[in-house]
Amino acid sequence: MHGGQRRGNGPGRAVVWLAAITALGGLLFGYDTGVVSGALLFLKNDFPNITSVQKELVTSFLLAGAAMGAIGAGRVADRIGRQRTILITATLFMAGVLAAAFSPAFVFLLAAQVVIGLGVGSASMVVPMYIGEAAPPRFRGALVSFNQLALSTGILVSYLVDYGLSGTGDWRLMFGLACLPAAALFLGMLFQPESPAWLITHGRLEEARRVLRRLRPPDTVDSELASLRSSAQRQGARVRELLRPSLRPALLLGLLLAVFQQITGINTVIYYAPTLLNNAGLGSSAALLANVANGIVNVGMTIVAIRLLDRAGRRVLLISGTCGMATALLTIALIFLASGPQLSTAAAIAAVAALFVYIGSFAIGLGPVFWLLISEIYPVRVRASAMSAAACANWAANFVVTISFLTLLNAITDAGTFFMFAFLTTAALIYFWLRVPETRGLQLEDISAGRSRPRPGPALVPAQSAARPAARHAAAAARRRRPAHR
Ligand code: BGC
Repeated sequence: MHGGQRRGNGPGRAVVWLAAITALGGLLFGYDTGVVSGALLFLKNDFPNITSVQKELVTSFLLAGAAMGAIGAGRVADRIGRQRTILITATLFMAGVLAAAFSPAFVFLLAAQVVIGLGVGSASMVVPMYIGEAAPPRFRGALVSFNQLALSTGILVSYLVDYGLSGTGDWRLMFGLACLPAAALFLGMLFQPESPAWLITHGRLEEARRVLRRLRPPDTVDSELASLRSSAQRQGARVRELLRPSLRPALLLGLLLAVFQQITGINTVIYYAPTLLNNAGLGSSAALLANVANGIVNVGMTIVAIRLLDRAGRRVLLISGTCGMATALLTIALIFLASGPQLSTAAAIAAVAALFVYIGSFAIGLGPVFWLLISEIYPVRVRASAMSAAACANWAANFVVTISFLTLLNAITDAGTFFMFAFLTTAALIYFWLRVPETRGLQLEDISAGRSRPRPGPALVPAQSAARPAARHAAAAARRRRPAHR
């Protein structure tokens, strides 16, 4: 044992603990985005004249805040470090949910939603980045995806809380409960180390060495330090660097993954499944129950993904998951086409089953893989800015899909809307097949330099921009030392 790090098969206690604490940020992301749908139903208890446009504003302000939070967090994380940025994020969560819970007026609630959104957006990019930088390559897929697991659990818990409090209609408590995980995140982060990659880019070599000793087996510390140092030196000014031709493919990949994650329709299901099922003829309680089951499938399949990401690899899960999503969407579209907007019992059962397949396929592929890949494909000096851009694109696309969905249903019918999502998902599938690299088991610095591509999938950067000899040597040495995959 060394600083909580076990030699042998596991990633080590220190790093698992770090990922688990940090993933509370993901839990809050999921809870805060999920809880709104239930809370909206009861706002009229305190604001009797609330209109449906005002209700839409409550959701929109959260998403707008999240886009801003994602952009701002990258700059902050570069300037003051990842760990302190997460502390600020936890503070934003606490301030936001308390403000929402005690809102004396509607505008106050809107302002609180923006603050919660800032926390959500910030957590969405800084949590996977920090875990990705702290995790050993062999376990990075699983550890970063703790975030997606916590996120989907947060959504499920929010459904249950909404359901449990629906008797009293206590929307203030629905929001306020999130204060508990936010406080736990804050306290837990006080004891977590700064990211070694960030320390290196700030010339704090000895501290980085100390952190790596805490998080890695002793025999890999020197090679990783060498690889991190050479990568930190190789790059120039941060944001300008991002636009360099050699980084453009990675930038584009992150942005397109972000947009595809949303325009393939996941949040129309997460936010509107009960409405959809209710409109299609399912009773309200059956619709709510189907929704809770949706949440369980989401969590369950994320656990499967965590077990497979570092064994089967990212590409295979992403591609098979996206195939499953496209098939399920096409099935739902055909069910609506065959039965019209009102479904028979048999058709409703088939539609719910297809929804389960859709959400399960998302949870095994595009859900975790998007956040994982954007934490992996950028070099350290531009990682925060590039992840900010991708996360912001994700929130912006989420916003557009969410606000246009109900209008779309009216304009082109349920069948038309699901055909459209099936088409977009097929386009995503083709793009992923052609462009997504395999990153399993590689050092982060090797991936962004396009140095090694032992498994199928395209390279991120042309081979000639590969690293200088020192880094190549260190990376090769680290690879030789790495135990075989199970
Ligand atoms: C997406 C969210 C979505 C969630 C569902 C995340 O990966 O970014 O928009 O609500 O998965 O589990």
